[in-house]
Amino acid sequence: MRKKIVAGNWKMNTDLNSGLELAKAVSEKVKSIDLDTNKFGLIIATPFTHLYAVSQVIDSSKVQLSAQNIADNEKGAFTGETSASMIKSVGATATLLGHSERRAFYGETSETLTKKLKIALDHNLLPIFCIGEVLEEREAEKHFEVVKSQIDEVLFNLDVDDFKKVIIAYEPVWAIGTGKVASPEQAQEIHAFIRKIVSEKFGAEVAENTTILYGGSCSPSNAAGLFSQPDIDGGLIGGASLKPDDFIELLKIRMQE
Ligand code: PGA
Repeated sequence: MRKKIVAGNWKMNTDLNSGLELAKAVSEKVKSIDLDTNKFGLIIATPFTHLYAVSQVIDSSKVQLSAQNIADNEKGAFTGETSASMIKSVGATATLLGHSERRAFYGETSETLTKKLKIALDHNLLPIFCIGEVLEEREAEKHFEVVKSQIDEVLFNLDVDDFKKVIIAYEPVWAIGTGKVASPEQAQEIHAFIRKIVSEKFGAEVAENTTILYGGSCSPSNAAGLFSQPDIDGGLIGGASLKPDDFIELLKIRMQE
């Protein structure tokens, strides 16, 4: 059965001290939870600068450490970039890829993401691949088409064994950081669609085992409705992941639903 996951995306927030406090608080709070890690996962995606120090204070058997991005090259003359092997060497075992902020502000395309995804898999990093439509696309009812091409152009180039290693995060861009969450029905509809196209490509069993997260203004006040939907396997959490109580509450809600 597919894993249910709550993943926190800290984005460009916290300095090293406050980031360490946050990571310690999360790790401390999760201690009291009887977490069956075959079924449930808790991930935090911190800034690059914090990864090593955070790796030293979290209980890695319960909290998985992720980067928010990796370079699209292995190494060399790429000033300012951070490679997959670098983040691996400081304790990260996962990475976000193609977050909408990377696509919008840093020009990440399907081509770049195809390279990054291959590199992540080559380094045995768990890729959390983000997709989602912008408001105009939703209003023009193009969201299915947009999400399909984002998946088609990157994930469907993988062979089935590699595809099975990927987590998908559907994040409607109009819901990210806006407080305007997708309704459970809206989110379920598109998650079911994603599972359907995965099934058409790789078969029903692979689709059933693919973890698909929802992201965009997800918080303890709306998570139960979302997480109880059959095709929503958890959340990619921005703002609420900066508050340890809320973040752990989201894990508890995920475990209950
Ligand atoms: P948000 O961000 O929860 O603050 O909307 C989600 C994300 O961008 O991953």
